[in-house]
Amino acid sequence: GLKIATIGGGSSYTPELVEGFIKRYDELPIRELWLVDIEAGKEKMEIVGNLAKRMIEKAGLPIDVHLTLDRRAALKDADFVTTQFRVGLLEARAKDERIPLKYGVLGQETNGPGGLFKGLRTIPVILDICKDMEELCPNAWLINFTNPAGMVTEAVLRYSNIKKVVGLCNVPIGIEMGIAKLLDVDHSRIRIDFAGLNHMVYGLDVYVDGVSVREEVIEKLTDPANSSFVKNIEGIGWEPEFIKSLGVLTCPYHMYYYKTRQMLEKDMKNADGEGTRAEVVQKLETELFELYKDPNLAIKPPQLEKRGGAYYSDAAVRLITSIYTDKRDIQPVNTMNNGAIASIPADSAVEISCVITKDGPKPIAIGDLPVPVRGLVQQIKSFERIGAEAAVTGDYNTAVLAMTINPLSPSDTIAKQIVDEMMEAHKEHLPQF
Ligand code: NAD
Ligand code: G6P
Ligand code: MN
Repeated sequence: GLKIATIGGGSSYTPELVEGFIKRYDELPIRELWLVDIEAGKEKMEIVGNLAKRMIEKAGLPIDVHLTLDRRAALKDADFVTTQFRVGLLEARAKDERIPLKYGVLGQETNGPGGLFKGLRTIPVILDICKDMEELCPNAWLINFTNPAGMVTEAVLRYSNIKKVVGLCNVPIGIEMGIAKLLDVDHSRIRIDFAGLNHMVYGLDVYVDGVSVREEVIEKLTDPANSSFVKNIEGIGWEPEFIKSLGVLTCPYHMYYYKTRQMLEKDMKNADGEGTRAEVVQKLETELFELYKDPNLAIKPPQLEKRGGAYYSDAAVRLITSIYTDKRDIQPVNTMNNGAIASIPADSAVEISCVITKDGPKPIAIGDLPVPVRGLVQQIKSFERIGAEAAVTGDYNTAVLAMTINPLSPSDTIAKQIVDEMMEAHKEHLPQF
């Protein structure tokens, strides 16, 4: 049977994953699920791990759940390693979101300064996990969900010996589900040709039963109610002139780049009111863990849908299943470009529709991105690559460079000021600097 190791097992998303494993058990016969966390997450892991055990028992499946702080024991002979950890927990995310606002810059966990600093904290840990994997489970697949998923996948491809890595985000599947709902059709009838980068992915075309409905869908994105497909971002609608001439579907994160001023104003207002997203999520998490503690609960509670990572289990488990069964279906994931997008380096990570085989994802070549979006995608790729380099080298100038070339940065001077304040605020999680 299969052994899965999940790093960051104390995450409130774990019941999502377990639900996915239960649903697909016939195709994916898991015998062991090892949840791994650190001392700071031990209590969370125990609560969520016990819920996982009850869910599996209720389903009547022979999956053993192990809870451990010993990462090496969990990795030993694993077939798939999934990563969903957060270095510094939500407290660090709240700093990523609040500090940039003081400088008039967007604070977001995967974009701009927040994305850079989450990467600087996370990349050394993921590379350490890769070293353990080389030794303890060299044939395993690494399925990374930890943000910033694009920069993290780039770092693994460039700076580790692990080649079997796939980065995963729920945004593409969320867009598929959202569009299915807008068009009132079952999601199995929808296909979208995705290409770009994580949180910078475009839908080049969208089909219902193989017939393009792109123009109809783009028209609907002008309505604020239809312009975001994730719970963590409130949609504010696109100008019809812009979105129609852009000609491709955007993802919700594009609002940070094409509607920067309004998004900043909205986030500043929220920060003064209900709190930043991390602060809202802290309350949600407390509520969720109270529910998880109930010994009579043996399902994923619907309240988890208030988190941005909806459909994570579908995305993760359908990916693992297709690798395991060599299914060769099409799924959007983060993988090495290999020439699929002409204007992105062949050895860089891209988020793109792929055929999923036992040898991993095979990106479906698109030729090139349309001219209006090509430059921004290249710029973000440069940011991810230089951010990853800063994380690995611990070079301060490289960190300032990464921050400055990010499109959300207004100037080199402000970028440097933000880097300085954030370096200080996060110093316990940035040993490389
Ligand atoms: P969380 O704050 O609950 O953290 C998950 C767990 O990671 C915690 O229990 C924590 O103790 C543990 N952890 C921290 N450092 C660790 C380490 N070095 N080793 C092992 N475990 C460690 O986080 P969450 O809100 O559940 O999110 C988890 C991760 O998933 C985050 O990185 C988040 O950004 C990411 N995420 C990604 C997507 C996506 O689309 N790819 C969607 C949602 C969340
Ligand atoms: C999104 C993304 C994730 C993101 C998360 C935030 O949809 O795809 O990458 O980090 O959800 O959700 P949260 O509930 O933590 O704000
Ligand atoms: Mn994501």
